[in-house]
Amino acid sequence: MKLEKYYAPEKARLIVEGREYELPILIGEEGEKAIDISKLRSNTGYITLDYGYINTGSCASAITYLDGDRGILNYRGYPIDDLAEKCTFVEVAYLLVHGSLPTVKQLKHFSGLLNKYALIHEDMVHFFDRFPQGSPPMSILSSMVNALSVFYPEMINDPLLQIDMMTARLISKVRTIAAFSYKKAMGHPLVYPRHDYSYCANFLNMMFHTSVAPYEVNPVVVDVLNKLLILHGDHEQNCSTSTVRLVGSAHVNLYASISAGISALWGPLHGGANQAVIEMLERIQHEGGNYRKYIEKAKDPNDPFRLVGFGHRVYKNHDPRSRIIKKACDDVLGALRITDPLLDLAKEIEEVALTDPYFIERRLYPNVDFYSGIIYKAIGIPKDMFTVMFALGRLPGWIAHWKEMWDDANWRIGRPRQIYVGPVTRPFVPMEERGE
Ligand code: ACO
Repeated sequence: MKLEKYYAPEKARLIVEGREYELPILIGEEGEKAIDISKLRSNTGYITLDYGYINTGSCASAITYLDGDRGILNYRGYPIDDLAEKCTFVEVAYLLVHGSLPTVKQLKHFSGLLNKYALIHEDMVHFFDRFPQGSPPMSILSSMVNALSVFYPEMINDPLLQIDMMTARLISKVRTIAAFSYKKAMGHPLVYPRHDYSYCANFLNMMFHTSVAPYEVNPVVVDVLNKLLILHGDHEQNCSTSTVRLVGSAHVNLYASISAGISALWGPLHGGANQAVIEMLERIQHEGGNYRKYIEKAKDPNDPFRLVGFGHRVYKNHDPRSRIIKKACDDVLGALRITDPLLDLAKEIEEVALTDPYFIERRLYPNVDFYSGIIYKAIGIPKDMFTVMFALGRLPGWIAHWKEMWDDANWRIGRPRQIYVGPVTRPFVPMEERGE
């Protein structure tokens, strides 16, 4: 990635120990500003300290632009609202990985690859039998994706030449693994992928078809699933994507890097929040619907409880995805004629929180996870699969970042620094002198 044109003529000035240093300034395509500190340590002896990387850019990227203050999210320049409204997930996956929306011919080719690679090796199917009953599906998913690298090792030497195949393999097989893990958990026979179904219809059929009750594909459900997966498609340098990049920066293969990303996504502060939201809502409902008690708990500095589904590291305004999901939630529940008291409860909590000074001052708004679980629940996805659904959606984003990193001439292995605060060098103490 060539960055020369982004360097501004002016420089930042840093004074350390009475000496002045000039640091280059970069201005991104949408006006985001950065100070290039890549020579800071070698020139000054200093490093920067930035817990949680709140101010630290780790790369330049052409995939996703988001402006948390203005509530903007674009994939490859296209606003998320347009993509969610007008595209299928497969088109958006192609866009994220390849950089442009597919033509009819390109889409046909990509869909053909997704069909071609939909099966997983039968030996892998036996892996499911060895996980203990009740294993978290995210743990199974992460293990199975890592195992793909031994079943499909041909990519390891020259990944970028085979990126189409690898992308299709992952996007298609992760869907199959996700559906199989559900069937195994249910103790039901597996349903294999079909070439005559679209990506989302295929997933739903693999999940819900049984020989005693054939699954009838419902276009409303297919449509909302496409939307949810698109909305989760990418979110620039979030925790799981940064994990994929960091692990991948050691030049490990794509499957192992994605497997690490899945583990990061599992966390309740990240992708695991969609499940945690429903569990929180159910708990509140179970206790008689007294959500105000939970809002007070969330505000109490001495209580670790947080209102799950609220707040975001980057969005200090409405998360544009949550707006789309809230509407989709109303639409799909209406079309399926489902009334879910959890939806009413969620809306009441949102209304109260958005007028509460605690949430206003801290700029805490509902995030993408606040309503997504209610939709998943409505379309029959069990709670412990919610984060797996997130992973399915995020997969093209992870692949796009991994590919971009491999292709970037500025790539270096990720290796943060630290400030050491442990004991200073001290003499070794032999065992007999260490006391009891
Ligand atoms: N409920 C109550 N208070 C909150 C919440 C919340 N959900 N989120 C943040 N705050 C408060 C913090 O206590 C802190 O208050 P203080 O300034 O008085 O100490 C202030 O808001 C700033 O919070 P930080 O933790 O500094 O914000 P950060 O950017 O580090 O964390 C995060 C973002 C992890 C998403 C946080 O808002 C959170 O824990 N939310 C709940 C979990 C959640 O919904 N996660 C999903 C995120 S979206 C995603 O990953 C797909």
